[in-house]
Amino acid sequence: MSAPNKSYDPVEVEALKPEEIERMRDEALAAFAAAGDLDALTHAKTAHTSGTSPLALANREIGALPPQAKAEAGKRVGQARAAVNKALAARQAELEDERDARVLTEEAVDVTLPYDRTPAGARHPLTTFMERVADVFVAMGYEIAEGPEVEAEWFNFDALNFLPDHPARQMQDTFFVRSAEDRTGHPDSATEGESGVVLRTHTSPVQARTLLERKPPVYVVCPGRVYRTDELDATHTPVFHQIELLAVDEGLTMADLKGTLDHMVQALFGADLRTRLRPNYFPFTEPSAEMDMVCYVCRGASVGNPDRPCRTCGSEGWIELGGCGMVNPHVLTACGVDPQKYSGFAFGFGIERMLMFRHNIEDMRDMVEGDVRFTRPFGMEI
Ligand code: DAH
Repeated sequence: MSAPNKSYDPVEVEALKPEEIERMRDEALAAFAAAGDLDALTHAKTAHTSGTSPLALANREIGALPPQAKAEAGKRVGQARAAVNKALAARQAELEDERDARVLTEEAVDVTLPYDRTPAGARHPLTTFMERVADVFVAMGYEIAEGPEVEAEWFNFDALNFLPDHPARQMQDTFFVRSAEDRTGHPDSATEGESGVVLRTHTSPVQARTLLERKPPVYVVCPGRVYRTDELDATHTPVFHQIELLAVDEGLTMADLKGTLDHMVQALFGADLRTRLRPNYFPFTEPSAEMDMVCYVCRGASVGNPDRPCRTCGSEGWIELGGCGMVNPHVLTACGVDPQKYSGFAFGFGIERMLMFRHNIEDMRDMVEGDVRFTRPFGMEI
């Protein structure tokens, strides 16, 4: 700011000359008129009305003038600033009106349009995958067989050659259903385990039901829900799904079982994938085996190769699928099939586990919680 000066001629203060003030005002008015939208106007406003705008800087010079000149210059600057503010307010109002009108047309909602009250749903990946597995067998001529989820202990265990003291019958694995006479719910009267009725712990009882219903040759698959007294965590769920296969015919051998497994694995995971059998024990098959398939991701290349670890098989090279074997002659006899004439093979595995490694799902709870963010990526198969 200039120092006070008695002999000061306001005309000599460049910024306060009338034509200078007019120029500043006109520039401001032109900038406002040129602003095409509210953002541009905000910039113009800062340039022409803020504390560092030309008019504000000129205003600061006034204080240094002698009284008469101060009054004249003050009036001049004041009028110019008033004109600028008025023009700004007018342009602001104009641009706001324009914006409102545009928003009203651009964002108009036609409230008379019909809308989708129920967004399209899709079936759960467990269901569609279970059907895909079953379809592999249907294409080979197998039929779908079904059995009840609330099952007689006899079908779930006895018919399948589980001896009465087999550990699988114990309370920690099996949900026993109270008998009809024991619906009082009084703890002292509980007869769980004595009713002879359980929630099926596997789909294998359908083997016995099928053999009692049909005459061989029998070729069936049974997809279904099963129950075990496990806590829900990342790798367990008390309700899960299995798919069971049973073939009983004349002359069936372990080679037929192996060929069927290979075909299933290739149909579901890709051509050229092999399976292997490892000895195991199940009461209802003899011999029994655990079946593995070659890891469909690394195909064994991760084994002993720390540079190429495989998350899918844990660098084992093999993925365990489930149990299988030749139907135990005791089961055939219990179901009225002559083991001298017929032989059979069977296998069963958990659908959740298979879906988990097929899609790298790390937590089983994701499959049961019903969150559409989990199911949506599987697509809208209906
Ligand atoms: N039912 C058995 C389980 O839940 C799985 C199984 C093993 C099924 C061998 C079979 C079989 O048909 O042959 O652990």
